[in-house]
Amino acid sequence: MAPPVAIVTGASSGIGLALTKYLLERKWAVVMADLNAPKEKLDNTLFVKTDISSWDQQAAMFKQAHEWRGRLDFLAANAGMDDRDDIFNTISSDSTKPPKQPNMKTIEVNLVGTYYGIKLAAHYMTLDSKAAGKEKVGGKIVVTASAAGIYPLPSVPQYAATKHALVGLVRSMGPVAAPLNIRINALCPALVATGLAPPGLMDNFNQDQVTPMSTMMQCFSELASLEDVGKADWVETGRAGDVVEGNLKDLIWHSPPERPESSSYMDEKGLEDWARTYAERNRNFAMQDWMNQS
Ligand SMILES: NC(=O)c1ccc[n+]([C@@H]2O[C@H](COP(=O)([O-])OP(=O)(O)OC[C@H]3O[C@@H](n4cnc5c(N)ncnc54)[C@H](O)[C@@H]3O)[C@@H](O)[C@H]2O)c1
Repeated sequence: MAPPVAIVTGASSGIGLALTKYLLERKWAVVMADLNAPKEKLDNTLFVKTDISSWDQQAAMFKQAHEWRGRLDFLAANAGMDDRDDIFNTISSDSTKPPKQPNMKTIEVNLVGTYYGIKLAAHYMTLDSKAAGKEKVGGKIVVTASAAGIYPLPSVPQYAATKHALVGLVRSMGPVAAPLNIRINALCPALVATGLAPPGLMDNFNQDQVTPMSTMMQCFSELASLEDVGKADWVETGRAGDVVEGNLKDLIWHSPPERPESSSYMDEKGLEDWARTYAERNRNFAMQDWMNQS
């Protein structure tokens, strides 16, 4: 079998680097997309310098990635950053100094950049790649959200908001993507020792509160059925729209809350009506965009 191909964003450090090595050990070819080059040279990888918050850069990276081996099987939409603004610790009592426009880079990277990645992956995964040894169109996506996507994290509210948003995105997209053979799920790491946290933070925690990287790999493996990639039905089977928290040695699966009975407009028929109505309207938007471009 031709090696399957993954794109890992944020691949030069921490969880993304560990995942890259995990995939390489299992004979994948990996496109490493990151702002910074990896410190070590790894065989069967292609590094593409990318800021995921730039549509042009991410689109160029996906194009280069697909041309590299002619296929795309897996996206780990993993790159992320913490807050660069702090509303309540920077309030000025000086009436001549109103607030400046805040730095929203966290939202541009974690939410907008991840959305761009899913949009591009959906395109390249559903291209016919038979010439490159791919049995069926489709693929798997794992979005790295966070435990801060399930519980509040007062020190970094922008970060928490983006990670909650990613959980909502994955839960909402999962059922829509699955019939196209794209299976999308979310990983919510607890505290893992990486380059993410500011210097000093990790020193305040006992080592027994830090989640090992092996738990992260177990989560990726479960979410994208990575050990089954050689099977003919890999893209058609497995989890879709699921959210798992990797905490110490545990995989904790989080379901959305139950709806109240008054929300019966969201029963099976209701959901079909919503899906049909929006699909029709959005096709019109897409047609309008296309006409404006041509
Ligand atoms: N470490 C934790 O405790 C923890 C907990 C929950 C969630 N996460 C999430 O895990 C993911 C990976 O983070 P990590 O902990 O490995 O941190 P890390 O800082 O070690 O790695 C993040 C990588 O992403 C890259 N990156 C940042 N912004 C980018 C951009 N705009 N475009 C491309 N690459 C970019 C960085 O250069 C870095 O190599 C992030 O989404 C993070 O929010 C981490």
